[in-house]
Amino acid sequence: MPSVVLIAEELAPSAIDVLAGHYEVRQVDGTDRAALLAQVAGADALIVRSATQVDAEVLTAGTGLRVVARAGVGLDNVDIAAATARGVLVVNAPTSNIVSAAEQAIALLLATARHTATATASLKGGRWQRSRFVGVEVQGKTVGVVGLGRIGVLFAQRMAAFGTRLIAYDPYIQPARAAQLGVRLVGLDELLRESDFISVHLPRTPETVGLIGEKELGLVRPGVRIVNAARGGLIDEEALATALREGRVAGAGLDVFVTEPTTESPLFGFDNVVVTPHLGASTAEAQDKAGLSVARSVKLALDGEFVPDA
Ligand code: MLT
Repeated sequence: MPSVVLIAEELAPSAIDVLAGHYEVRQVDGTDRAALLAQVAGADALIVRSATQVDAEVLTAGTGLRVVARAGVGLDNVDIAAATARGVLVVNAPTSNIVSAAEQAIALLLATARHTATATASLKGGRWQRSRFVGVEVQGKTVGVVGLGRIGVLFAQRMAAFGTRLIAYDPYIQPARAAQLGVRLVGLDELLRESDFISVHLPRTPETVGLIGEKELGLVRPGVRIVNAARGGLIDEEALATALREGRVAGAGLDVFVTEPTTESPLFGFDNVVVTPHLGASTAEAQDKAGLSVARSVKLALDGEFVPDA
């Protein structure tokens, strides 16, 4: 009997082909809890992206599971401790979509600077409104990067080409490394006070949830534009809505939300908020890389071989 690989979210066809050559591949909608629990019972491997919650209940139902693979960077939707306790290996594809995520943050930043989404909706709605959509240049502005990990670094390197002044908050990075990147390390309060644009590039952990809340948004430079293409909940949504309403924050570009999927948010009512449904990793290139990386790791794990860091 071939091992069963259960794919719970969209995966690149190239990766499915690789897996189908060796295993029985089954598919399920990971957001359909009942279906997931039923299907995982017969699976040796489970592959997810960000929408499927792989918690203790799923891991308990998956009595034959040997490996859970996350076709992406973050592992916040996988209960690693529960998996480890059951001897289930957890793998991800930590570099697969970092370029795509950084590019998405830049797209959102530029869209907030130039009202791209609202102007599109206005023109397609039959209105030619030039004076309504006067934006700001990015050149010469201070860009605050919260989190200088892999994605934050790619974002900063690209923003440098726009002629920005880069500052960053990251308690874990060495000042020399930041200096090499042309980025000045500052405390979070200083970053909030000085930045014209802020982009968040952090994983979702108990330490980072709500990192930018009411108090922090009270410190920002008036007119700041804020981008989050990392994880929902890092910026408190209610506090952000209040800051937008009061005009302290001039715009926001959001790819991620505290609850996903969602079609409702207090933030969707603002003209100066551009939103996308968690598309940071949704490029052909990133999906190929993520899919092939986890397909490789799943194969090694099911073959009982050592799985190196991807
Ligand atoms: C990631 O963590 O890499 C992304 O959020 C993956 C995804 O798009 O599901």
